[in-house]
Amino acid sequence: MKERVAARIADIPEDWLTDLDLRDQGFVTDPYPVFDDLREQCRMAYSTQYEGFWVPTRKADIAEIAHNPAVFSSRGLSVIPRPLGGDESEDQPSELAAGLPPITSDPPDHTVFRRLLLPAFAPKPIAKWEPKIRTIANDLIDQFQDRGSCDAAVEYARHVPTTVIAIMLGVPPEDGDLFTDWIYKTLETGVENPEVAAATRIEMVTYLAEKIQEHRKKPQNDIMTHLIETEVDGKRLNDADMLGICFLLLIAGIDTTWSSIGAGLWYLSQELEDQERLRNEPDLMIPAVEEFLRVYSPVTLGRIATQDAEVAGCPIKKGDRVLMAFPAGNRDPDAFEDSDKIDIDRQVNRHYAFGVGIHRCLGSNLARLEMKVALEEFLRRIPTFRLTDPDVVRWSAGAVRGPRRIPIEFAVPS
Ligand code: HEM
Repeated sequence: MKERVAARIADIPEDWLTDLDLRDQGFVTDPYPVFDDLREQCRMAYSTQYEGFWVPTRKADIAEIAHNPAVFSSRGLSVIPRPLGGDESEDQPSELAAGLPPITSDPPDHTVFRRLLLPAFAPKPIAKWEPKIRTIANDLIDQFQDRGSCDAAVEYARHVPTTVIAIMLGVPPEDGDLFTDWIYKTLETGVENPEVAAATRIEMVTYLAEKIQEHRKKPQNDIMTHLIETEVDGKRLNDADMLGICFLLLIAGIDTTWSSIGAGLWYLSQELEDQERLRNEPDLMIPAVEEFLRVYSPVTLGRIATQDAEVAGCPIKKGDRVLMAFPAGNRDPDAFEDSDKIDIDRQVNRHYAFGVGIHRCLGSNLARLEMKVALEEFLRRIPTFRLTDPDVVRWSAGAVRGPRRIPIEFAVPS
């Protein structure tokens, strides 16, 4: 196994069983051989990096942890200190002291915040966004179709979810570039550089506080207004909760789906047979989207133990951090046949790309629709497209992994 791993990534240190560094460039580029290797050697690895963290690699063990929020709290959402907010917050703006509900909340608060948001993200209201998403996708394609080339991540994948969540939340979609810049600085540069992350969080909070004020004066038909007007136990949400929720929706709604649309296009730019099949057999798009989610799961978060516990025979101490390695669970060969392979015909696909348990992704209906529509419109309007330079492709590190550059070329449609 080590040989296979070494052949796939030559530049990653070999001591990942005890020293896995989530920021190691070899791991970021291709984490899967490392997860495979860990899974073969033990059910839970322990890394001494950062403040130390456990790494479950099997789907069943990840589920066991996710289903036990009383012991595994979401207040410690990251094993790398400080990229997202939550409890690890000496340099956090005081406005985010309440964390980012509901993702950093535990029950009973979690239930209250989740209930507030559920109506906007239920299947029926989300289905109404389909025509708008198609228009957004087509407007983007209009800008590069006649060129015969584009960067499918920079010019397409990242703009679809940015525009949609801006409109849903009630902030100007024209500020989209500002939001993606914030995401780079919070989730990527910020992982290496806490000062940049802290300054960016202050910028985001200032911006959102201003928008919330504007909505208080002039209510609109959007999520921000819904949050302002909704009462919980006869009381309106306080400013810290409002800010935390809006901050989360902006981050969770953009980076994740941008990564998944990008991963799908990156795969298809190299697998021309599947590209052609998806053009000719549109019913395959739904299973294909699930495969892209499973095989390139973008989100990896964490938990912190509130008491001593045992998982997979490993003694976990109060205060220990655990990586919720959803991407590893989704390649578990005990759970999926040919787990490393994209199979767009796969019918049964109970993956954990959206997590599992009480924190399972609230935006999954929206994310699936955005992926389906973005990929459908791209395949409809752009003829056979190919990756031009694999060396330019760069994957983001941190809580959300996705391709940030995808240079492609195609024939200019006549
Ligand atoms: C392909 C795209 C997406 C993926 C892979 C994804 C993945 C995830 C995962 C794994 C979790 C669980 C985190 C945990 O267990 O700690 C989560 C939670 C969440 N996601 Fe997503 N997400 C996506 C898109 C979205 C979108 C579009 C939104 C909406 C704006 C969204 C909003 C949320 C929220 C609010 C939570 C917290 C739910 C809770 O704590 O109850 N996500 N997501």
